[in-house]
Amino acid sequence: MSLKANDLGFVNCPVCRARHIPAPSNLSNGVYAADCLNCGHFFKFRTTQPVRSSFSFKINGQDVTVGNEFEPTTSLNEFLRKKGISYGTKKMCIEGGCGVCVVSAKIVDALTLQPRHYTVNSCIVPVYMCDGWEITTIEGLGNTRDGIHPIQQRLADYNGTQCGFCSPAQVMNMYSLLQTNPKPSKEEVEDMLNVSVCRCTGFRSILDAMKSFTPDSCSNGLPTGLIDIEELDGKICKKTGEKCQGKCSTTNEANKMLQIVTAGAQWFKPTTKQELYSLLAQYKTQKYRLVFGNSAYGVYKDLGDWNYDVIIDLRGVQEYYSLITGSSGTTIGSNMTLTNLLEYFTSQQTSDPALKQFYDSICQHLDLVATTSVRNLGTWAGNLMMKYYHPEFVSDIYVIFEAINAQLVIADETGKESSYSISEFLALDMTGKVIVMAKIPSFNGTSNIIRTIKTMPRHQNAHTYVSAGFNMNIDAGQNYKVLTKPTIVYVGINKTFTHASQTEDYLVGKSLGDSTVLNGALQTLAKELIPDAETSLTPASYRKSVAISLFYKYVLGVCDSIVNKKYQSGSAGLTRPVSSGQQTFDSLPAEFPVSKAIPKVDGTLQTTGEAEYISDTPPQPNEVYAAYVISSVANAEIDSMDASLALSMPGVLKFLTSKDIPQGGVNNCYPERLLVIEEEVFCSGKVIYAGQPLGLIVAEDQMQANIAAGLVQVTYKNMKTPILSIDGAIRAKSFFKPPDPLNVGDPDGAIAKSDQKINGQVYCGDQYHYQMETQISICYPTEDGMNILAGTQWIDGVQQSVGQVLGIPDSSIVVEVKRLGGAFGSKISRNFPISSACAVAAHILRRPVRLQLDFHTNMKMIGKRVPYLARYEVGCTNDGKLNGIKIDYYADCGTTPNDMSNFAMEGWLDNAYYCANWNMTPYNCRTNKPPNTAARSPGSAPAMFIIETIMEHVAKTLKQDPLELRRVNLYQKGQKTPGGTTLTYCNIQPMVTQLESSADIATRKQQIETFNSANRWKKRGMSVMPLRFGIGWAGAQYNTLVTICNGDGTIAIFHGGVNVGQGINTKVIQVCAYELGVPMDIIRVKKTSSVSNSNSITTGGSITSELICMTVIECCKALNARMAPVKAKMKNPKWKDLVAKCYGEGVDITARYMSEPKDSSPFAHYSVYGVCASEAELDVLTGEYQILRTDILYDCGISMNPALDIGQAEGGFVMGLGYFLLERTIYDPKTGVNLTSNTWEYHPPMYKDIPIDFRINFLKNVSNPLGVLGSKAVGEPPFCMAVTGLLAVKHAIEAARKEINKDMYFTLNAPATVNVIQGNCLTDVTDLTFGN
Ligand SMILES: Cc1cc2nc3c(=O)[nH]c(=O)nc-3n(C[C@H](O)[C@H](O)[C@H](O)COP(=O)(O)OP(=O)(O)OC[C@H]3O[C@@H](n4cnc5c(N)ncnc54)[C@H](O)[C@@H]3O)c2cc1C
Ligand code: FES
Ligand code: FES
Repeated sequence: MSLKANDLGFVNCPVCRARHIPAPSNLSNGVYAADCLNCGHFFKFRTTQPVRSSFSFKINGQDVTVGNEFEPTTSLNEFLRKKGISYGTKKMCIEGGCGVCVVSAKIVDALTLQPRHYTVNSCIVPVYMCDGWEITTIEGLGNTRDGIHPIQQRLADYNGTQCGFCSPAQVMNMYSLLQTNPKPSKEEVEDMLNVSVCRCTGFRSILDAMKSFTPDSCSNGLPTGLIDIEELDGKICKKTGEKCQGKCSTTNEANKMLQIVTAGAQWFKPTTKQELYSLLAQYKTQKYRLVFGNSAYGVYKDLGDWNYDVIIDLRGVQEYYSLITGSSGTTIGSNMTLTNLLEYFTSQQTSDPALKQFYDSICQHLDLVATTSVRNLGTWAGNLMMKYYHPEFVSDIYVIFEAINAQLVIADETGKESSYSISEFLALDMTGKVIVMAKIPSFNGTSNIIRTIKTMPRHQNAHTYVSAGFNMNIDAGQNYKVLTKPTIVYVGINKTFTHASQTEDYLVGKSLGDSTVLNGALQTLAKELIPDAETSLTPASYRKSVAISLFYKYVLGVCDSIVNKKYQSGSAGLTRPVSSGQQTFDSLPAEFPVSKAIPKVDGTLQTTGEAEYISDTPPQPNEVYAAYVISSVANAEIDSMDASLALSMPGVLKFLTSKDIPQGGVNNCYPERLLVIEEEVFCSGKVIYAGQPLGLIVAEDQMQANIAAGLVQVTYKNMKTPILSIDGAIRAKSFFKPPDPLNVGDPDGAIAKSDQKINGQVYCGDQYHYQMETQISICYPTEDGMNILAGTQWIDGVQQSVGQVLGIPDSSIVVEVKRLGGAFGSKISRNFPISSACAVAAHILRRPVRLQLDFHTNMKMIGKRVPYLARYEVGCTNDGKLNGIKIDYYADCGTTPNDMSNFAMEGWLDNAYYCANWNMTPYNCRTNKPPNTAARSPGSAPAMFIIETIMEHVAKTLKQDPLELRRVNLYQKGQKTPGGTTLTYCNIQPMVTQLESSADIATRKQQIETFNSANRWKKRGMSVMPLRFGIGWAGAQYNTLVTICNGDGTIAIFHGGVNVGQGINTKVIQVCAYELGVPMDIIRVKKTSSVSNSNSITTGGSITSELICMTVIECCKALNARMAPVKAKMKNPKWKDLVAKCYGEGVDITARYMSEPKDSSPFAHYSVYGVCASEAELDVLTGEYQILRTDILYDCGISMNPALDIGQAEGGFVMGLGYFLLERTIYDPKTGVNLTSNTWEYHPPMYKDIPIDFRINFLKNVSNPLGVLGSKAVGEPPFCMAVTGLLAVKHAIEAARKEINKDMYFTLNAPATVNVIQGNCLTDVTDLTFGN
């Protein structure tokens, strides 16, 4: 019997009912005969409309065909990595937010109908979506063997890489831009670079590298110039001979509908709307989903493909690609992306100023929606549907469309089209329906003044706090009379609030220019804005206040001519010009290559994607994958754990818990010799924080493991309210044993006798490390133990941790690491649990096991920077001289104090200030948070923040210039710190003077005064901060091996430091070349191993590079000494000959050295000095700000490599800006779950958060007598100087408060996020006037 297909050529398999068409190749005379692709049943049927059951696309010029061997949920990223096509394409968040996964996709542009390159996030693109695309990955551009692409070269030359994990993505962003715009302006480059987070570099070097491709780039000693179009297409083409054809594959096949049937779901790609409607008719009662860009699940996981049985890809529906402008308005097809929309509005020309303002406003707003890559894929229709499904969604598109009164055309499954307003659309039943187009009315010739505004926690790639849209028909001649009912709309207030209807009604027929009307409107608005807590994690008070501010901004703009000049700038947002950087340093040519500014040796490997991270290690035969089951409450006991459902999934092998710790081992991953309290590998019953590992699922595939982990049912008993704050811990008296207090002199007596006594408190929060490569360990069982590739900064620690957990000797465990994709302290102790759990799994299963944390688990489970609360008391003279300081500081350790012992706050709390009498009393608070740990500048950054806050407090109380106060207290040579260090080499005083002059502080202070008195709603502030940072060497044992190969004289170095992106290997090679007198290119640095580099301490504390260099120097000295007698017998021997001769004579040409330095004084071996000035501008109405300029003068001694050290300084400073101003974690008060564990809510700095003018100057002509080769450390101290960013904003706030006579001292805690800043300005609705 032959079945009959329906109109679309579908047929149900008579056995399993899967609807599908088997492969067209089975067609004979209109009859298909085939096996069902789902159940394998053989059947026949007749059809006249063949569909495709596979699709083709190109990757790096090679054709790829995909059938149903992958599930529709498979992302392009997974596909590239599983197939081994691209390991250079990284992954991290899998939600479109970090941008580390981007590739370039050549797709036909909907507007021009020409193929065009777009940057897309490979993590959100399902591979099925790539039908007909041409994908270029980083491997398609070039490599170090066959030829490197100019963009890859430029990024390396400019030192735009540190850990290098984001570097391929940075290259791909630029590649796509240059493909469409070969001569971009600097502004276009900066605007486009909004996609990929870089946690290391501080962005300046990346920006400079990319701006070097603009026509107006200036040389600065580094390569510049436009890219040749031939070169742009990528070297790979030369190699393969597969030149890009310049057009996408448009075979006849592409015109047929695509249907792919898998065991899990069906994927359809109809090519006409008729086909789409038929599909809707057939599947409307099933779990179906339409898809275009598939980006929505980046925000809402319930919209992910895996939740649906039928997925219908709209990309083939040609009728929905339309953009037509006529006299009555514009219709925009629903397949138009946000990029199309932005480009459309940008291209609109008009001489009508109101219309131009409307276009500008929409463009500015759209430019702030998501990232370039998300906009390239995401449609406005998809965005509106997110609002439909999630009323709380803060959709910018919704607010824009509602403000301009857009109408939607929606079709049902019969193809019937109807028009709806946006609010009607939200109330519709959308089952079986599709958005076809939007109709935007024409505002040509009207007197409508339209503006939409977005307020953001970060300058790029962030959701809105509150977005608003205003559209009013205004008669300017009648004092700005509102002629008809205006539109005032918002998102971000509450789930249902859109129109400020009462205010809209109030304004009809009234003159906006009338100050009583303005006041009345503001009061009405204030009454009807009722924010809820569900819509946002941002306080309701801010959202209400900023919503009012946005209305006021609009009114100021409309009524510009009657507004007091001082108030006018309140209308606009902040304008950011193109940023720039300046770096100065000196070098000692006599010591080259040491002190030479040379790019990183593995820079090109990083920019080409060839640099291999642990997560890029190809799977070994038999390898399996693990995923954690973590707790969802913070303070309870496990009642039951049921993994039966998870274990019933195909491919799931095992669920491991605390009961599976091998005999002889212990359920404690913190090495015994280091711990204060034990830390369980898997919870044995008492849950102490949300995110705690309860067990581990092991499966054949990572996706299976992840899904199965979510299916493990856990119930809890005895749930108690968790302690989640320092205040809470103090109240509950929840403490660990603290370190001893430090008492110097008689602080109580000194304070009592002082003219001024000041006290206060200040708080600084935590910080997620945001290392781009999440925690990872791969364990390979061996005959006597375990080999481990561990993402750790501390191989020795991991070895001991795994040894004790498995109960096997440390010597049978080999731990190796070549490089890390970022660390920042997160991989010192925090890899212990990961490697231990992974090793337990490998030990039990006797198979290689890979455990890499997904981003969300990484955020929830891994402890963060330690938050601090400090309570202080200060006594000083009337002219500001410090007499005595007492500080009680409370550390939020989370659930263990194990990582606390490292951070000697006492060594930094004095910063650069002398005071004879101190008391510093630490408290270690126990809270129900993950074990907090080291994060770049642990201890030091909060310490500097505390003392700088104190200095501000004293200055404000004394009405003294804060810089003057600092100056009178600066350390002088020979003075002693409270920790007991005598400052033999102190140069802070002249450095302050030097910076004051080079940064033109006095003049700029004047300019700030002038600016502030001319502007009511924009304020500027400046902060200058000196820095003394004690660098401790004590206990820094590092073990290094330098070996010379006798055959060719090349040199291999195995050192005990870990390459975390700080440039350690480059410095090591420079030093080795210098010491042995050989060229750098014959030296290689190998991976760090617990065999060759056993007993090495962790990499951290800014000291590893210099101490490893010390060990290399000692090895080279030993080698030189051994080779000297042989050399003496030869006449000017070539290196290779000398080596051969030494070897021939039995000289040992391998040397090993272990550092064991002591500090030259307590708390520090030497001090680093620096001065930093930052200037900020603040939008008082919204709390948004920007750092206008930062000048850093830094004493790096004789920097071993100024290019790398400047990169460290910039990267550290920008990470510090994130800590002090941007990054906040919020915990659910009931469960203790981290609510900010995603890229949507957590915001590290991006390109436009850095200072607009960023100047780093290394002090010249200085050598550090206590350092290695005269150098000083640089990894952490510049981080602390980012305090100036916060304090500059604080001074701007003070200027705002001065306007309302409220300029008394206030504390600005960190992070000072936009809402906190705005709240501190104390603006009241009654202040919102025309200023007349
Ligand atoms: C990192 C990131 C940042 C973001 N930032 C912002 C931001 O700042 N502001 C903001 O407003 N948004 C933001 N978004 C949301 C983004 O704009 C949307 O994800 C995108 O526009 C959705 O379009 P899409 O084509 O990818 O939709 P898809 O993900 O393909 O679909 C989304 C939903 O819409 C449905 N759908 C799609 N097209 C149609 C149609 N024609 N008819 C009926 N149903 C349809 C789908 O079935 C699905 O349910 C962000 C998203 C990400 C990932
Ligand atoms: S992994 Fe794709 S955006 Fe983060
Ligand atoms: S270099 Fe960009 S994240 Fe490390």
